[in-house]
Amino acid sequence: MCGIVGFTGTRSAAPILLDSLKKLEYRGYDSAGLAIMDTGLIAGNKPEGTITVSKVRGRIANLCEKTCDGELLPGLTGIGHTRWATHGAPTEENAHPHLSNDGRFAVVHNGIIENYLTLREELIADGYHFESETDTEVIVHLIEMYYKGSVRDALIKTANRLSGSYALGVICSDEPGKIYAVREASPLILGIGIDENFFASDVTALVNHTRNVIYLEDGEFAELSKESIRIFDVSGQVIHKKTKRIMWDVQAAEKGGYEHFMLKEIMEQPGAVKATIAPRIKNGKVEFDELTDLIPYLPGIRKIIITACGSAYYAGCAGKYALEKLCKIPVEVQLASELRYSDPLIDEETLVIVISQSGETADTIAAMKECKARGAKTLAIVNVVGSSVATISDFTVYTWAGPEIAVATTKGYTTQIAVLYMIALYIGDSLGRIDGDYGKMVETIQALPRRIQQAIDMNPGIPAFAKKYHESKALFFIGRNTDYAVALEGALKMKEISYLHAEAYAAGELKHGTIALIEEHQPVIALCCNPSIMEKTLSNIVEVKSRGAEVLALTFRSNQKILSVADDLLFIPKVDALFSAVIEIVPLQLLAYHVAKENGCDIDKPKNLAKSVTVE
Ligand code: AGP
Repeated sequence: MCGIVGFTGTRSAAPILLDSLKKLEYRGYDSAGLAIMDTGLIAGNKPEGTITVSKVRGRIANLCEKTCDGELLPGLTGIGHTRWATHGAPTEENAHPHLSNDGRFAVVHNGIIENYLTLREELIADGYHFESETDTEVIVHLIEMYYKGSVRDALIKTANRLSGSYALGVICSDEPGKIYAVREASPLILGIGIDENFFASDVTALVNHTRNVIYLEDGEFAELSKESIRIFDVSGQVIHKKTKRIMWDVQAAEKGGYEHFMLKEIMEQPGAVKATIAPRIKNGKVEFDELTDLIPYLPGIRKIIITACGSAYYAGCAGKYALEKLCKIPVEVQLASELRYSDPLIDEETLVIVISQSGETADTIAAMKECKARGAKTLAIVNVVGSSVATISDFTVYTWAGPEIAVATTKGYTTQIAVLYMIALYIGDSLGRIDGDYGKMVETIQALPRRIQQAIDMNPGIPAFAKKYHESKALFFIGRNTDYAVALEGALKMKEISYLHAEAYAAGELKHGTIALIEEHQPVIALCCNPSIMEKTLSNIVEVKSRGAEVLALTFRSNQKILSVADDLLFIPKVDALFSAVIEIVPLQLLAYHVAKENGCDIDKPKNLAKSVTVE
């Protein structure tokens, strides 16, 4: 997720764009840049329309310093970008804006161009030179290729070649004073000023300048000058849109109107999982361009070890089942802080999957180095491009969740599991070991974003459950097999943001001691989403209820047996248990969120916790 902005008016553009970019830094902050169209007003400078670009690695503050808060970039028209790297490490070369070879166009982009490799090869064959490793750069060269005097026509032809998601900002030196915006599956809003107009990825960047906005929709293009805004569709027909008035303050806008980043990021999960899955499923097949060199090693792999910390470790626990079943390779999930000191039995016949949202967790880095030193091939699943884990690993698959601001991970965890599901299918298929319906499994994975949204929509009663349980001394999360893996993460979410003591137990383990803790009204959250062991979990529910427990069960609407014994219910849509962890966790994330809210906790920044634990 990145942030894009554009301005055209009668004021100096650069300082306004820098101010707007600062408001978008929560969307991405590993590099930034501006492209300003010179108006030729200042004596002796470049001809009117000349585009000047300034880019930096790191935060907007670096760009402010480099451009003297925009003073070194005179001009009344421009575009800007703050980046969250997806394709190409966070470097100055990969920062946006990107220029066409003839210098006539500059482009900023938020989204992922799924067919960029094919387009890049075509453009290079046509003689276009690339400066960066990004997917975005194919766009500016396509515009140059299609430009025959009409920017609008060139944009429409370019958009017709792109597949994926894109919110684009474009300027052309032949059209001083104009900026263009294009929207497809990434947010883009137009701001209407007096003798000035704007575009931005979200209202946060606009509310200091105007509260009158137009929300572009997919397939819409906009041409903005200081006097007017014209919007047209893919056929070039002008369309009319309603102006809306923004009532949010800046802080609320940054959280998309949600009270906390954590709630915003829970709600972003359908989009984050889709962004992570979609580019890797082509014509009904899972494809990882980044793993083709791993394939020759696969027949020699005798063991897979997954290593991580915290929620990333629990993501590994959830993904283990699909990996073992589809790859027919034993999988162990080990805490990185334990693995690094355990003198592990690891060699060149071991594939080590390292999971980390931040890519900077000290224990995880150390464990990965230990495994590499013993000859293992490492495959990292990381959210931050260019992070230490991504750099050290032999192979890296990125989750495209976008920046995760809340300390308690949500979309980081679910996108990690989504990648594990796809890796299981990819390796299993490469080895010819999948004995189930491959096509059906791919369809199940493709449907996960919709299923996650259903899990959100099916549980309006969660705030009421939070009121009921928020003062409990302890909460037990129980489940078996895949349900147990999710129970582990559900308990951690509860602990780290609501500060209530919560434990996850393999439901079959209760009778070996823990059931002694069950007393009258003891809340037990029972996960019952795996039909293969449902009867057993049902008996565990009866077991704890007979000792006075109150059971909140998570299950399907059709599960009459569970519905008849549980005191309260959370629902998810019925999905193959091998792939249901990313859905099951969502009601538990929301339960933890609302309990923490009832307890008045600092939800986005829980006490004693850091977003990335870079020390032992
Ligand atoms: C998750 O809610 C916690 N903040 C924590 O357990 C986290 O998952 C763990 O520190 C690992 O972080 P990483 O994914 O960045 O490596």
